[in-house]
Amino acid sequence: MRKRDYVDDDTPEIGMAVTSEARGRGVGTALLTRCINQARTLGWKGLSLSVEDGNTAARTLYERCGFVTVGRTGNSDTMLREL
Ligand SMILES: CC(C)(COP(=O)(O)OP(=O)(O)OC[C@H]1O[C@@H](n2cnc3c(N)ncnc32)[C@H](O)[C@@H]1OP(=O)(O)O)[C@@H](O)C(=O)NCCC(=O)NCCS
Repeated sequence: MRKRDYVDDDTPEIGMAVTSEARGRGVGTALLTRCINQARTLGWKGLSLSVEDGNTAARTLYERCGFVTVGRTGNSDTMLREL
């Protein structure tokens, strides 16, 4: 696995957070699904993000939405969703 936290110039990197009171109700899933669909509509070929070790809630969401680990830097994995 390559050591990288950046995929390439044609792959936007996203980050997301839901306020603590609103978590666990599908907001994160809805946001990420919308981002994926919008990126595809705009012609991007992929989306990337980073997730720290131990962030099980985020990793579960990302994997369920089709992100796969493609690199690692420090204590974070870089994940890519091909579109
Ligand atoms: C990650 C985050 C954006 C998810 O948002 P959300 O609105 O809670 O997401 P959803 O309600 O759509 O749920 C996402 C999945 O995570 C799961 N999940 C939630 N908490 C979990 C936990 N502690 N352990 C394992 N899975 C967990 C949910 O069960 C759900 O999976 P499911 O639908 O298969 O049951 C939110 O937790 C957050 O803002 N965290 C703090 C900031 C952060 O870590 N951002 C990501 C940085 S990489």
